Parts: sequence; C-alpha cells; structure tokens
Amino acid sequence: MIEVIISEKSALTQSICRLKLRAKNGSALPKSTPGAHIDVHLPNGIIRQYSLCNEINSSEYEIAVLNEPQGRGGSSYVHESLKVGDTLSISEPKNLFPLDSSAKKTLLMAAGIGITPILSMAEHLLQQGADFSLHYCIKSPEQAAYIERINNSGLAPFTHFHFSQSGRVKLAELIQSAHNDLHLYVCGPAEFNDAVIACASEKNWQLQNIHREYFSAAPIDHSDDGSFEIEINSSGDILTVPADQSMLDVLEDNGYFIPMACAEGVCGTCITGLLSGQADHKDVFMTAEEHAKMDQITPCCSRAKSARLKLDL
Ligand code: FES
Repeated sequence: MIEVIISEKSALTQSICRLKLRAKNGSALPKSTPGAHIDVHLPNGIIRQYSLCNEINSSEYEIAVLNEPQGRGGSSYVHESLKVGDTLSISEPKNLFPLDSSAKKTLLMAAGIGITPILSMAEHLLQQGADFSLHYCIKSPEQAAYIERINNSGLAPFTHFHFSQSGRVKLAELIQSAHNDLHLYVCGPAEFNDAVIACASEKNWQLQNIHREYFSAAPIDHSDDGSFEIEINSSGDILTVPADQSMLDVLEDNGYFIPMACAEGVCGTCITGLLSGQADHKDVFMTAEEHAKMDQITPCCSRAKSARLKLDL
C-alpha cells in the first residue's frame, strides 16, 4: 500500500473531477503503463478502482472520477469529501488492460468516463509514432472530460468526437473490417462495450484482437437468485448460500476471506478457482470463453446453476 497526498483537485466537467496524487513520503511513485489502474482506499472504508491517466513524464498519478449519486457511495465521497492535502492509501498500479505491442494499427474507443485509460493509451501511441485512431463517444461537449488536453497534446488529428444525446453511435461505421494486425481497445459502460464487441465480432474480429475494460457493470438482475451450496476444497466444509446473500458474504461469515474490491464483477480481484459445479457467471471481467471453461468464478456477484459448487479454497 502506498500513502499519497491529494496535490490537486479540480473539475473537468460538472460531474467529473480530477485528482492528482503524489507520494506522502516524497519518493517517486511506481511507474505505470497505459491502461493501468490503482485501487483507492477511501477514508470511509470503500475501495474503488480508478484508471490512471497520468500525463506523459508526470511524476504524479492522475485519476478522474465521475460523480454517480445513485452509485454505492465511492464517487460521491470523492466529490464531496476529499480535498487537497488529504491522505489516501492506494495500491501499486495493476494493468489488466495493457496495450499489445505487436499491433501495427490500433483502434481506441471510449465512452463517457471510459476515456481515462484510453487517453493514456492514445498519448503513449502518439509518442511512439504509432498508427492509431481514437473515437470518443459522449452525450455533449460539456460532458466530455479532457477535450483541452486532447487538443493541446497533439491528439486532435487522431481523435473523432461523437456527440449523441441518445447515446447511439453508428458503430458499424467506426469499426473497420478485421485484420490480424489491427487491435481494438474499448472502455465504457457495459452496454457500450458489449455493443462494440458485438459489432467487431460481426465483422469477424478475432477475440484476441479485442481488448476491453468495464468501469461499471450493468445492474445485475438478482430476481431469479436461489440458494445453493459451496464446498470448500481444503476443509470439506459445505456452506449454504441463501438467495439474498452473496457467496463472498457467506465465505466471510465462515472465516474464509477472499480479496475483494468492486463487489460487482468488474475488477477480477475476487476470482477463485472452481473445481466442480456449474457457475452462473454474472461478472463482466472474464470473457465468454473464460466463463465457458467453468474453472474460475467471481464470488462477489456470481451464483450457481448446479446445486453445489466446489471452490479451490
Ligand atoms: S470484487 Fe471485483 S470482480 Fe469480484
């Protein structure tokens, strides 16, 4: 864990604020790569993941946070309670959304606050002189973060803004035909990511050329949730997960602690080995292929299709 001080807090739009962070002890922060995120441990006990969008050569970390008043309290806390000079604990950068260095051409697609990792990628590709284009889909110019930075950093000729109040963008016109050397990176709300991936799949893109990161999951439907059992491989314990509790809660209540961060199937922190049983995967972190293997599960949100799941714990 790294202790950092908020060195700057400013509004990027009416609902997005930017925080700059520097190490409390004055030392250099660990290097990050485009697409990386940090876990931010808020003083109210909430842990949230935020993509880093540090300016190239900056010694500080930068994150941008969308205020979601209907959310679970993390973004409201950042907007309303954090101020310059406050101390936060953060993790080292982790990159689950790295650029593929073998790509000869890169298509970057961002929606809303999903611009944060994509902006870092675009600035990196620009610096490398790489062949890329950036599509930034947002409701209106007023709601678009980082327009000034895009214009000032030399990214403007590579950037296409798509303003649409309805949120509908003609994706088929933006996504080229598949090519082995062409890689696609998408970051946005679940519906946007899913629509982009579906469009690319229709154009015969290979899954290994499609990279995605979700910043929030679509609301998970728990109306059909039932109870099931989980068996702990190491102890043989069999625990019942009632319809109104998550596996993670039941495990914790019984002394099995699994690291957890987002609690909504976005970050992958809680992934646990699945030794037998049929999972009802609810996360958006793993791919459809990974889900089909039935060898891992996210206990924070996923359930069971079989009567019992055996966990590798
Ligand atoms: S805690 Fe994030 S996927 Fe489970």
